Amino acid sequence: MTSWEQLLERARPQASPLRDEMEQYARDFHVPIMDVEGIETLKTLLRLQKPKRLLEIGSAIGYSALQIAEALPDVHITTIERDDERYERACAFIERSDANDRITVHHADALEFELSSDERFDALFIDAAKGQYQRFFEKYEPYVQPGGIIYCDNMFMHGELFTPLEDIKRRRRTMIRNLKQFVDWLIAHESYDVSFLNVGDGIAIAQKKDKK
Ligand SMILES: C[S@@+](CC[C@H](N)C(=O)[O-])C[C@H]1O[C@@H](n2cnc3c(N)ncnc32)[C@H](O)[C@@H]1O
Repeated sequence: MTSWEQLLERARPQASPLRDEMEQYARDFHVPIMDVEGIETLKTLLRLQKPKRLLEIGSAIGYSALQIAEALPDVHITTIERDDERYERACAFIERSDANDRITVHHADALEFELSSDERFDALFIDAAKGQYQRFFEKYEPYVQPGGIIYCDNMFMHGELFTPLEDIKRRRRTMIRNLKQFVDWLIAHESYDVSFLNVGDGIAIAQKKDKK
């Protein structure tokens, strides 16, 4: 063993043809899916948490949803994707998996989508437009049970979170400004215990306080 990447690869569950195909599809068509370090860490956190119901914002081709469903045999996942092609791909890939009866994919813009008012989730995973994280969080956190956990991926944006705004390319500045503001807002949130993991592209973990 000569590297961290090799160690990670050896520790992951054995590859399946479907997982390989999805990873190859993502590479070929430049679909941003979670990296190995990020998804394996998220799966470990979720195995410890044992959610029964998980909401994901940003399915892309269904890769993280399928990985999570395969790692947690009792979870039901609701996931939302706005892009037409990716939504179709997600449905097609998920259909081929044994976990397909535990994953519901909605084709919608998550900022406009309405869940039914009595839906509740133990976990929320936000992995969509990075400049909109606060809006996703505010819209969907009321559906998270007390004690439930909200996970957000790409918190570091490949280091841009820690880069002064004036050094960020102009076209990305609004998105990074929003992400920086979201981090400050989240840390100050009185209803959540918050921490950050320096794995993958940075994962935020916010646990809803159990008000008794
Ligand atoms: C990083 S990818 C998700 C990757 C996926 N979670 C995985 O790891 O397999 C982000 C996805 O969020 C979708 N997205 C962005 N904004 C959205 C919105 N407002 N509503 C629904 N989907 C959105 C994008 O189309 C994109 O496919």
